[in-house]
Amino acid sequence: MESSNKNRKKITIAVDGFSSCGKSTFAREIAARLGYIFIDTGAMYRAVTLYALEHGAIRNGILDADKLIAMLGDIHIAFRFNPERGASDIYVNGERVEGKIRTIEVSNCVSAVSSIAEVRRKLVAMQQEMGRSKGIVMDGRDIGTVVFPDAELKIFMTADPAVRAQRRYDELRAKGQEVSLQEIEENIRNRDIADQNRAISPLRKADDAVVLDNSHMTVQDQMEWIAEKLRPLIG
Ligand code: DC
Repeated sequence: MESSNKNRKKITIAVDGFSSCGKSTFAREIAARLGYIFIDTGAMYRAVTLYALEHGAIRNGILDADKLIAMLGDIHIAFRFNPERGASDIYVNGERVEGKIRTIEVSNCVSAVSSIAEVRRKLVAMQQEMGRSKGIVMDGRDIGTVVFPDAELKIFMTADPAVRAQRRYDELRAKGQEVSLQEIEENIRNRDIADQNRAISPLRKADDAVVLDNSHMTVQDQMEWIAEKLRPLIG
């Protein structure tokens, strides 16, 4: 998959699916192998949520949607490549917030923020601009259905909720966060329900997406799986 990327036709790869399925790990790895841009759109919704928490639009877990909508023009999101991580970090108004957006507090509020039409309109427009020249792997919930309905390759990822909770638990504990497995499992189940049932751009598999259940697959297994799908598209 790595060789002679330069002369290959560039395509758009959309990766959607449930929370904590390893979408970003999968998408980042494909992008690195193809020399494509990788964008984690969940990080963008998390960044807006963090801003709302820090600027009083969410208090005691309650979102004031009108207040957040009024603030949207002040929220400037950017990605900058971090050579140490080999991936892009997300910035809000010039501040690197990569660590701050992955807390359970943000996770608990992000579904409410991502169900606001004005928030989605702003972020989807940014995402479409980033993918204008193709050569991009983008992961989220509505990439194959709304952001890039014409993407050449669409993947819909899923995994057993218990496996997903364990993975997220290990990840947060490794970062030193005090969380319980039960709290994470609850958050994942609640977000699955919220993501699938919101009125605007709910999480659903695009008709032309291929399903990847990675409950029992390593990243290497997943790279072999995707290489097969890519062969007819980029040679
Ligand atoms: O991928 P993630 O768990 O970091 O995403 C955080 C939340 O953002 C998720 O619960 C739903 C929302 N989201 C969305 O609505 N649309 C996207 N394209 C990406 C994420």
